[in-house]
Amino acid sequence: MKMARHEELPVPVHSDLEPVYGGASQLEEAELRFQNLKSKFLDVFGHEPDVFVRSPGRVNLIGEHIDYEGYSVLPMAIRQDTIVAIRKRDFGDSDCLLRIANVSAKYPLCVYPADPDQDIDVKNHRWGHYFICGYKGFYEHAKLKGLDVGVPVGLDVMVDGTVPAGSGLSSSAALVCSSTIATMAAFGVNFPKKEIAQLTCECERHIGTQSGGMDQAISIMAKSGFAELIDFNPIGATDVQLPACGSFVIAHSLAESQKAVTAAINYNNRVVECRLAAIVLSIKLGMKPQDAIAQVKTLSDVEGLCVSFAGSHGSSDPVLAVKELLSEEPYTAEDIEKITGESLEHIFANSPTSLDVIKAANHYKLYQRATHVYSEAKRVHAFKDTVSSSISEEEMLKKLGALMNESHYSCSILYECSCPELEELVKVCRVNGALGARLTGAGWGGCAVALVKESAVPQFILDLKDQFYQSRMDKGIINKNDLGLYVFASKPSSGAAIFKL
Ligand code: GLA
Repeated sequence: MKMARHEELPVPVHSDLEPVYGGASQLEEAELRFQNLKSKFLDVFGHEPDVFVRSPGRVNLIGEHIDYEGYSVLPMAIRQDTIVAIRKRDFGDSDCLLRIANVSAKYPLCVYPADPDQDIDVKNHRWGHYFICGYKGFYEHAKLKGLDVGVPVGLDVMVDGTVPAGSGLSSSAALVCSSTIATMAAFGVNFPKKEIAQLTCECERHIGTQSGGMDQAISIMAKSGFAELIDFNPIGATDVQLPACGSFVIAHSLAESQKAVTAAINYNNRVVECRLAAIVLSIKLGMKPQDAIAQVKTLSDVEGLCVSFAGSHGSSDPVLAVKELLSEEPYTAEDIEKITGESLEHIFANSPTSLDVIKAANHYKLYQRATHVYSEAKRVHAFKDTVSSSISEEEMLKKLGALMNESHYSCSILYECSCPELEELVKVCRVNGALGARLTGAGWGGCAVALVKESAVPQFILDLKDQFYQSRMDKGIINKNDLGLYVFASKPSSGAAIFKL
């Protein structure tokens, strides 16, 4: 009999914490966390939860801002995660509401109607909206599969998250994924991981960011001990064994990255720029403007044309087409409209969040964004090939570090998604012996990831403390006792899991 592929299997269900949090001190910590969550749930809702779900955050090792362009990325799950405890209220209960609480006083109780068709008020950002994304996603997917899950009923929900918010470590995907699976579990359903990865990627967009599927895919499909090469269209994960002599240290720049709040000027702006770059390239490469507008959604859609063009110039690199056919000078809306023969408002008429981008933007850097995407996509494969090559470990770490440095340069200079704090931190990492260091996640704040020799990690962390964090502790920006939350080495953790304890 053929074994089902890992991603075809449903989310694992455990009756104790050991399979996920195994390892003495971690297990004890997790047991305390679950007990605390359970007792707070009881305090607030007067009942115990039916089921718990955990989904981890992630660190992306390489492949930034290319998932939404259809290219593979290489993240790993981290130990920090979000746990959702849930109870489906009895049908006869007086109200039909979703009550979403958090163990942390920072996040007040949010109450929503149980209507799965409700719109999310994206202009008034509330933390509970992320649960509603998952809730809606569950219903949308059940409907698509023709599954009758009955009329909506009230749900009591309590969340405990350890992925720092705004850190570029995917706290939002950890919450959306655990919320989706918790809703699923409350209704007694479990879908294959692959389907959940796809549906959570789509439902998180209800929050207003046009994000790709990396964060949700790794949170759902991660395996302990491995990074994963995540492919899209269709979604899939291939295990990547990282070299044992290297360690990935994650360090927070202490600048918060608010992806959803700044979407119109940052994240969604880049998605729009990439789409425009793809349309303009395809027109320059011979497509009719109307066909380009209707058919070309991403830079991967036009890669074939770019490669053919490069081929006729003795190269196989799509960047050559970008260099020859796009202008390095930023484009105005009028410049682009002259090429496409359509107004930008018309091109993006079906996407309200893209229209917000156009309202806020006064120019578009098509050359720079396309160059980043095509070159970063190549670096992901170079990273994977290096890891599986037979060169010495020393040599391997050097090569991986160099790819990470190139990736950072491209993110910073071509994609402009860094910030002064991240630049300073990446520099401090390199000065103190990192073989490579780069921003990770969406950027504009959040964390950097550095590749460090395993044996050098303790000293490296001390050096970062002295040279980056000390002055911030002196200013009271962070508390000395919390340093471990902001800088730590991480091994690849496992993906989402359901607990019936
Ligand atoms: C965010 C998004 C991802 C990805 C990264 C940048 O984390 O959610 O889909 O685009 O930014 O690589």
